[in-house]
Amino acid sequence: MQMKYQMPTRVVMGTGCLVKNAEELAPLGDKALIVTGSSSARASGALDDAIAALTKNGQGFAVYDKIPANPGTGCLAEGASVARMNGCDFVLAIGGGSPMDAGKAIALVAGENVPIPELFCGKYGDSILPIACVPTTAGTGSEATQYAIITNDAAETKTGIAAPGLFPRVAFLDATYMKTASRNTMVNTVIDSLSHSIEGIISNRAGPLTDALAHEALSIIGAAFPALTANTLSDGDRDRLLYASTLGGMVIANTGTTALHAMGYPLTYSRDIDHGRANGLILADFLAFVQKTRPDLVQKVLEPMKMNSLASLCFTLARLLGKPDAMTDAELEKYSAKAITAKNIANSAVVPTERDVLAIYRDSFSRSGQTTGLANSRHATIEFIACEDYLPAKHFRTVPPRLKDVPFGKTEIPVMIELSPKLASEMSFPVTWDGKVFGYVHDNERLASIFTGDMAKGYDSRRIYLNDWGDAFLLTFENGTRDREITRFVHTREIQSLFARCNILPENVYEM
Ligand SMILES: NC(=O)c1ccc[n+]([C@@H]2O[C@H](COP(=O)([O-])OP(=O)(O)OC[C@H]3O[C@@H](n4cnc5c(N)ncnc54)[C@H](O)[C@@H]3O)[C@@H](O)[C@H]2O)c1
Ligand SMILES: [Fe+2]
Repeated sequence: MQMKYQMPTRVVMGTGCLVKNAEELAPLGDKALIVTGSSSARASGALDDAIAALTKNGQGFAVYDKIPANPGTGCLAEGASVARMNGCDFVLAIGGGSPMDAGKAIALVAGENVPIPELFCGKYGDSILPIACVPTTAGTGSEATQYAIITNDAAETKTGIAAPGLFPRVAFLDATYMKTASRNTMVNTVIDSLSHSIEGIISNRAGPLTDALAHEALSIIGAAFPALTANTLSDGDRDRLLYASTLGGMVIANTGTTALHAMGYPLTYSRDIDHGRANGLILADFLAFVQKTRPDLVQKVLEPMKMNSLASLCFTLARLLGKPDAMTDAELEKYSAKAITAKNIANSAVVPTERDVLAIYRDSFSRSGQTTGLANSRHATIEFIACEDYLPAKHFRTVPPRLKDVPFGKTEIPVMIELSPKLASEMSFPVTWDGKVFGYVHDNERLASIFTGDMAKGYDSRRIYLNDWGDAFLLTFENGTRDREITRFVHTREIQSLFARCNILPENVYEM
């Protein structure tokens, strides 16, 4: 096995960890420049904790709290001069990715005396001021990376700067700071972290260790989707999501990001779309592009999230993000020309051409309103159907897992139902295995109407999947090829009442 892996940041996690582990800050210097935005560090309590920790150590501090979202070079020059004027010899950055990245870049500008016009030159020495980070979002993983992403007006996009000295010396992960974050901030940042772990897997620099970290992060994020969608995240969920986003940082610190981030940056620069949302709007169609050449990689991405197909991810993202922003074709052409020049394009296991990038953008932002096809299904209304019409109660037959792949008769369609542990304990089925129920439903007129046209092709391998998303079940009608799927939702209470009334036949009874 050949592998390279580096992550020099000390990571301390837990409620109150900043004050409890204040001594971790002591070796960094005598006086900190606290770099943050105008409000969230105060509102979340992180700023008070940072001041308490520094005071406990007898370290001085100055506060620079003027970092906007998607920071540009202006605040870096100002922040560096505040550091110099106050004799600060290290940086303590608190916030989402914007203040953390700005804090890292200020440490570089102040420590190295880099003139702002040369900021993106890529060559830096080893005098970057020591950095500590306190994330208040579960997104960027910047607390565990050697990158700072800065708005680059000359290039009209966002550009990453990278240097070993930009790895924070220490990161304090306290999920209680995220209690003040809105649903919108949580959704956008978790999707950023999702994209980091996904891109780690489809990077041509992926390795066994980064794959393992990404797998762990994706399983945590996948399990949190229902609560994230419903805005009912518990303290435990926030804790796990923060852990997952730091794992995502450890992943991209070693694999880099890919074409997805390259494609997201122009959307943020030109249309002010939040970074995570920008990635999320194109994620499914980017994966559909990768899947054509490397279905194995997409499988590796979906499996830890317990998803059967890209359609599940598509609908999950649609429920989280709502409708995509309207784009003209001229805009998409401009963004394609921009994205293709980014360094991380070449980092993808499947490298897109400019035409591919444009096609992915077009798929992501198309509004053709058709109900089949990955891209189009995303924009279809999220439609709830009456469950009984499609899974008639009288005709449900369970089968043991070992039979789940048996060929079926012309009049039956296999169904795979994935239940959350909670629902599995509430509903009793004759045959369950690992939270999954396998069965068959009898073909009926409604189903026949679904499996017409394009969906009728590949008739011999059609299937129905039901995934438990808490308040709703996601139904995927699949005809065997992953790009021909129709997806609908059913209210969970309907599924529960259906199975309560259902005449479940034993596995060996074939006559309906
Ligand atoms: N360095 C890296 O490796 C890396 C990786 C990915 C993204 N990024 C960069 O990170 C930036 C995005 O960071 P982000 O997504 O964390 O957003 P952000 O830092 O811009 O914050 C978004 C919003 O959330 C608010 N907020 C943050 N924490 C809050 C809290 N606890 N309570 C209430 N409000 C809170 C902020 O005030 C802001 O309005 C982008 O510039 C992106 O390019 C960096
Ligand atoms: Fe990111």
